[in-house]
Amino acid sequence: LQVLFITPEVYPLCKTGGLGDVSAALPTALREFNVDIRLLLPGYPAVMSGLKYKRKIATFNDFHHFPPTTLWSAKLSVNYSENVPVYIIDCPALYQREGGIYLDTAGQSWSDNVLRFGVLSKMGAILSSDASPLTWFPDIVHCNDWQSGLTPAYLHFHPGKKAASMMTIHNLAFQGCFPPETVAQLGLPAASYNMNGVEYYGNLSFMKAGLYYADRISTVSPSYAREIQQAPLGFGLQGLLAARSQHIDGIVNGIDTMEWDPATDPHLNKNYSSNNLAAKKANKLAIQQVMGLEVDSDILLFAAISRFTEQKGYDLILQIAPQLVQIPAQLVLLGSGNAMLEEQLVRLTDTYPGKIAAHIGFNEALSHLIEGGADSFLMPSRFEPCGLNQMYSQRYGTPPLVHATGGLIDTVVDCTAATLADGSASGFQFHGMTPEAFLAGIQRVVIAYRNKRVWRQLQKNGMSKDFSWRASAMAYREIYQSLLAPV
Ligand code: ADP
Ligand code: GLC
Repeated sequence: LQVLFITPEVYPLCKTGGLGDVSAALPTALREFNVDIRLLLPGYPAVMSGLKYKRKIATFNDFHHFPPTTLWSAKLSVNYSENVPVYIIDCPALYQREGGIYLDTAGQSWSDNVLRFGVLSKMGAILSSDASPLTWFPDIVHCNDWQSGLTPAYLHFHPGKKAASMMTIHNLAFQGCFPPETVAQLGLPAASYNMNGVEYYGNLSFMKAGLYYADRISTVSPSYAREIQQAPLGFGLQGLLAARSQHIDGIVNGIDTMEWDPATDPHLNKNYSSNNLAAKKANKLAIQQVMGLEVDSDILLFAAISRFTEQKGYDLILQIAPQLVQIPAQLVLLGSGNAMLEEQLVRLTDTYPGKIAAHIGFNEALSHLIEGGADSFLMPSRFEPCGLNQMYSQRYGTPPLVHATGGLIDTVVDCTAATLADGSASGFQFHGMTPEAFLAGIQRVVIAYRNKRVWRQLQKNGMSKDFSWRASAMAYREIYQSLLAPV
């Protein structure tokens, strides 16, 4: 079973969110199940310099008027032991520049993203068809999010031999829409620009193209798979998704349990396990010190880490902060994104010095220490396809409070008398995106935290859950296998 996995980001080379984590951990898990899965990545500077021992394997001087491109192969080391083969698209005109993966140094989308990811999609289609210069040929091409959404469209119009395609939605809110003239620029047939094709409300949509032409669709949790087949979370694509519901699976993400293990995590001040939870306190004191909070081992410390966007519900955190401080409780925030939100959060920390602290920026090491040091983790996401931090939190004995949406529903067991009794309670869910509902959830956390026995139980339940990729990787392998059968 040979699979080409196309992704715009991968940990630890280039990551902006959960897709980066998934692109490293899922292929690693699948390789352990004897799936020969290989990545296809754009050659950003961090990728070109981060992967040693590259081998040049093909050159493309005139492929659909795209700038000259070289294909390299290399191996990505995940957790020192696993090596995942990677194909890198070295197209300096598109990828060799300072700035982010999707955004320029001023925080705006790159004006040539249509080409940056058009080329990624096109190369994915070439390597998955008999137009490929390589001897390795995938049975399945696995596309992830809009950046590789055109691959199934290119393949659809390819007359020769081709791989079956699968499209995974990590976030439907980002769709990759561009003006109609880009259809010709990308070398797509004019006939594809149609309601039954790549057209979406007067634009070309990479995401819709993938969802329309892929043989199979999946998303990253069963609840989100249901939610996107209706408004509002279908973001306009609910009709198409509902029509294809027979071809949609919801497979919950796992986490890298080696990277995220409080017993061995090198970023912690002190390692701990469920048998030695008292040691967790050293991390709380460390985070209070590092972040300039009042050092107090008894006060309830909440945390949140994420991209600052509308999706993550930081507006709710801003609204309830004054009441949270009154409890009394502390709050530590880590993230970056929306400039206005960043400013508001900095103002909040100025209003409550020693009680609320924020670090604006992307900081992998700090995110581990926060998971280890906080008492409870907040995730008031408006929507959440899967979410990883609620799983990291449970594994770190830091019970999360989450909005009941998407993958958060599927991965956090709400604390009730019944779930405490059967040993499954591992956090808290609140219903409805209102400050009142969120505050009521916080009150439930406070009550549980004050009951040492209940809190320990919650921590232990969460820490003993299996968040590994094992079951989900097997579910992906089953789908790949079903695609091998003649349709
Ligand atoms: P999303 O993909 O929507 O951003 P996920 O919960 O799936 O949400 O994944 C987010 C990932 O990015 C997690 O690994 C989280 O720890 C990480 N992350 C987000 N923001 C930051 C930040 N500012 N610093 C460090 N890690 C971050
Ligand atoms: C997206 C989603 C997040 C998910 C991640 C990985 O960025 O917002 O919920 O966990 O992709 O699948």
